[in-house]
Amino acid sequence: MESYIITGGYRLSGVVRASGAKNAVLPMLAGTVLTARKCIIRGAPRLRDVTVMSDILRLLGAEVHWATVPGQEPALVVDPSRLVNYQVEESLTREMRSSIFLMGPLLGRMGRVRVAYPGGCAIGPRPIDLHLRGLAALGARIREKFGFIYAEAPRLVGTEIHLDFPSVGATENIMMAAVLAEGTTVIRNAAKEPEIVDLQNFLNGMGARIKGAGTDVIRIEGTDRLGGTEHQVIPDRIEVGTFLVAAAITGGELVIENVIPEHVESVCAKLRETGCQVGEEGCGRLRIRAPRRPKAVDIKTLPYPGFPTDMQPQMMALMCVADGTSVITETVFENRFKQAEELRRMSANIKTDGRTAVVKGVAALSGATVEVSDLRSGAALVLAGLVAEGITRVEGVHHVDRGYECFEEKLRAVGARIKRVSDG
Ligand code: UD1
Repeated sequence: MESYIITGGYRLSGVVRASGAKNAVLPMLAGTVLTARKCIIRGAPRLRDVTVMSDILRLLGAEVHWATVPGQEPALVVDPSRLVNYQVEESLTREMRSSIFLMGPLLGRMGRVRVAYPGGCAIGPRPIDLHLRGLAALGARIREKFGFIYAEAPRLVGTEIHLDFPSVGATENIMMAAVLAEGTTVIRNAAKEPEIVDLQNFLNGMGARIKGAGTDVIRIEGTDRLGGTEHQVIPDRIEVGTFLVAAAITGGELVIENVIPEHVESVCAKLRETGCQVGEEGCGRLRIRAPRRPKAVDIKTLPYPGFPTDMQPQMMALMCVADGTSVITETVFENRFKQAEELRRMSANIKTDGRTAVVKGVAALSGATVEVSDLRSGAALVLAGLVAEGITRVEGVHHVDRGYECFEEKLRAVGARIKRVSDG
């Protein structure tokens, strides 16, 4: 177990570069098993979740390695030509929910798949009924037994699928299953997140015929075979948002590089409401200049292009020190205020009731020992530590390692006092 020790009170300033998007790379890695040819993913972040997905692919028979060419970003190379297995390793499924992304691609390539039921999750029950209903609509026979899900179909057949909710994962899973199906699949009420557009571009690079990602109707013309591809992954908009809030909470000024500004528009708009100046500087650079104390704003999470649920905990940390009272409404996940209890240990004034949190800003947070329960609440606690008086010890940083590449190194380079220590 490792912890962060943070000495608060230092204003951040300088330049920080965002990594590639974790949530784009994970479905792409799963999608590589749709082909027997080599796929190269440039700009993939070196993260724990990426390592776990690579290990899952290796156990299925693929070869996965990092390629480093001087002067170029590291690339993840997957050669799935010798895929032999259709059963996803149980212990790794339990470690990472995103392993269910393999259902669609394995069904397409191998005609069958077995995955363990993903375990409970710190941010709520997170069912997978929409994934399974979508795959069943494409003709998969699905059985659930002894904690495993078995799905098989000699060949999937395209159809019309209407999602009850625009689930990101279900949209991606169904898209990947449909590319090798017979005929046309139409997904209605599809999720519109930028990672879905990136997945479409990746799969089309392999020879798939997908149109409409980024809108709520996605049309996939099935094809018999896919080839290899080389793809540059989009920047991580949640990492960008986290650094924007890091500047805002410390009253600092940061330039963030490797940004697609449109992807973070809802976060920038909220930060402007708090009194921050946020502007594009061209060439994928965004500058934020924060006031001494932010103004309180209300926040409601929604599917893209609404305010992202993955930025809600970080904004809650910011609201803890804002001038005024903020109402935060979480509409995407049922139980995503885990950070509130820990922030209260740091003298924050937060009341939660179901999906609503009321945060009364305080003049100062105080350092304390806090424990991380999931990735984004971990980021929120680190941000709170940056502004708290005295020392904050953030325990359980392995959750943060799942989604932030070189987090403490990047923060230190712009003036934060943060170090990683091994417990005991
Ligand atoms: C993805 C992101 C995650 C982000 C979330 C919402 C990845 C790897 N993860 O997660 O970081 O927080 O989108 O933007 O991309 N639901 C069902 N049944 C289903 C599927 C989902 O009821 O079959 C519900 C979930 O419980 C949740 C909501 O739909 O309440 C949204 O989930 P979804 O969009 O599927 O999120 P993920 O794909 O799991």
